Amino acid sequence: MSGDRQIILVTGGAGFIGSNYVSWLLDQNTVSEVRVFDKLTYSGNRENLRRFEGDRRYRFIQGDICDAAAVADAIEGCDAVVNFAAETHVDRSLLEPASFIETNVHGTWVLLEAVRQFPSTRMVQVSTDEVYGAVLDGRSVESDPLHPRNPYSASKAGAEMMAIAYHETHGVDVVITRGSNTYGPFQYPEKFIPLMITNVMEGQAIPVYGDGLQVRHWIHAEDHCSGIHTALLRGESGEVYNIGSDEEHTNLHVARTVVDLLGGSDDLITHVTDRPGHDRRYALSSDKLRSLGWSPKWEFDSGIAATVEWYRQNENWWRAIRDARFTEYYQANYGHRQTRQTDRE
Ligand code: NAD
Ligand code: TYD
Repeated sequence: MSGDRQIILVTGGAGFIGSNYVSWLLDQNTVSEVRVFDKLTYSGNRENLRRFEGDRRYRFIQGDICDAAAVADAIEGCDAVVNFAAETHVDRSLLEPASFIETNVHGTWVLLEAVRQFPSTRMVQVSTDEVYGAVLDGRSVESDPLHPRNPYSASKAGAEMMAIAYHETHGVDVVITRGSNTYGPFQYPEKFIPLMITNVMEGQAIPVYGDGLQVRHWIHAEDHCSGIHTALLRGESGEVYNIGSDEEHTNLHVARTVVDLLGGSDDLITHVTDRPGHDRRYALSSDKLRSLGWSPKWEFDSGIAATVEWYRQNENWWRAIRDARFTEYYQANYGHRQTRQTDRE
């Protein structure tokens, strides 16, 4: 796919990374239309897109990627489909896995069937480093075997397998990206970083699973989006590209950083019963994507400070979604866990 004046369908564009991608695309000024297609589940939010409503290049369609007729209509005339639409939270996949299979596997298959009807349309399947499973040493490369260990990551691996199958058998032009843990503005506050920020701002304890020494690579949403776009423009059909930073931190370190930035007390950090099947570490090598000219711009320290500041400046945004439905989920996920305060060093 070449550079300019593209029409791009962004499925799941009302969510966290999807809405950051829409913003990123419109800022680049290289597209003629950005068409968002989103079911608006609990994590999809029209507020994430409100600022684009005056832009004539932006269009919103409410729809489900499992609905073949709606998908076929939405895809008509598009040069590319970038699929962010998914159920995305590991803890929810332990409580209610059905929608993960439905949207992440079945929905991706529906998209692939639709893209198959338009041979000049490229699809990017946005996937995750979690498909590799726990990586205790070194860094995952794209040719490593997949070993998903929870229903979320298993459903994302299933979607990838279907994408590769459609490439091999039907020649569908598809590229897969596997991103690291992502943070930044507009992230629904069930995920670790925005959960901690908003809890501290409400004076509530922050729940750290187990010993808190699990490790993640953290990438800013803007860098994840530029990586996805690089794969879309320059990736080779049928190939997989990792998108990671070199920012490797324990959860406890991230928790202390957030508490410090907000001027809170470390006493808010509370160890709670671990997540079952909790992957100890994820780590990516992104050399393959870097060889296409991509590199991340954000360092974790400045990225997390900017993110905390965003949540400070946008209290209305997150207070509106920490609603009764959120409280019900919070109770289901955390209510039964045992707690203890963090050990002093
Ligand atoms: P999110 O939960 O914030 O957003 C998901 C979006 O998909 C929401 O707008 C939701 O309404 C929409 N959606 C859900 N089911 C749908 C359906 N059936 N049809 C249409 N729309 C539907 O998630 P996110 O964090 O922005 O993640 C986006 C993508 O990136 C996902 O595919 C996820 O697996 C992947 N990813 C996320 C991370 C991360 O750290 N957040 C890291 C790597 C990869
Ligand atoms: P999360 O944001 O759910 O992403 P993922 O599970 O996809 O990595 O969690 C990031 C890390 O933070 C992960 O190791 C689990 C941990 N975590 C907690 O310790 N407490 C929490 O309340 C949550 C939501 C996550």
